[in-house]
Amino acid sequence: MSPNSSAASPLDVGVIVPAAGRGERAGAGELKQFRTIAGIPMLLRAIRPFASHPRVCEIAVALPAECFESPPSWLAEVAGGRLHLVRGGLTRAESVLEGLRSLTPTIEVVLIHDAARPFVTSDVITAVIDRVTSGVSAVAAVPLGDTLKRAEAHGTRISETVPRRGLWRAQTPQGFPRTVLEQAYRAWLAKGNRLDATDDATLVEAAGFPVDLVPDRTTNLKVTTADDFLVAEALAAR
Ligand code: C5P
Repeated sequence: MSPNSSAASPLDVGVIVPAAGRGERAGAGELKQFRTIAGIPMLLRAIRPFASHPRVCEIAVALPAECFESPPSWLAEVAGGRLHLVRGGLTRAESVLEGLRSLTPTIEVVLIHDAARPFVTSDVITAVIDRVTSGVSAVAAVPLGDTLKRAEAHGTRISETVPRRGLWRAQTPQGFPRTVLEQAYRAWLAKGNRLDATDDATLVEAAGFPVDLVPDRTTNLKVTTADDFLVAEALAAR
């Protein structure tokens, strides 16, 4: 699929970037999403491909509450009217909800992309947008390559090998018709936020809507640990 296949379509896509996590698994020091990879802050790398995409008209970035009043100056590079900041919540889902509430009402397609994925490509952004434009929610994903083991509840003894056939690793961007995402979040709030969702498709699936998988690259990795930063540096140096 060409990254420009949506070029003639209207600017009707809003993007939410939840960037309000503490990133504790990456170790002490600067917030993970502000740390640089080959000299460029991870959050900036995550936003740029959306800021330059022909269908995207608005990007809402959820920042940790303490950064909201004085955001990093390098965010100004992508400001240009398209970007606005919101105060993140205590959980990822709350941060996304703040972003969703802030989007211009005319936006009909909403993408959500983790600040911790700095190597998203414009091809997969376009593929997700195209699927959503056809009416179905879509998740960038990679078929599982490893063998999966489940450990006993407390400890490291294997209790089960989970057949990997048909299993995919959900990445971001994840895209939704806005009305679908709003209904899913309304249902989540109505149930008292009890579902512990680590991605947005989980809420949309729980609300009974279909969600498609869109094949993505493994290089669109989520930078979580200190080791992931080593891999990210190597990828950035390519
Ligand atoms: O913690 P996890 O790795 O699932 O975080 C995924 C994304 O959600 C990260 O980009 C993180 O900054 C964001 N997040 C957020 N608000 C929170 C927790 C996580 O925006 N309260």
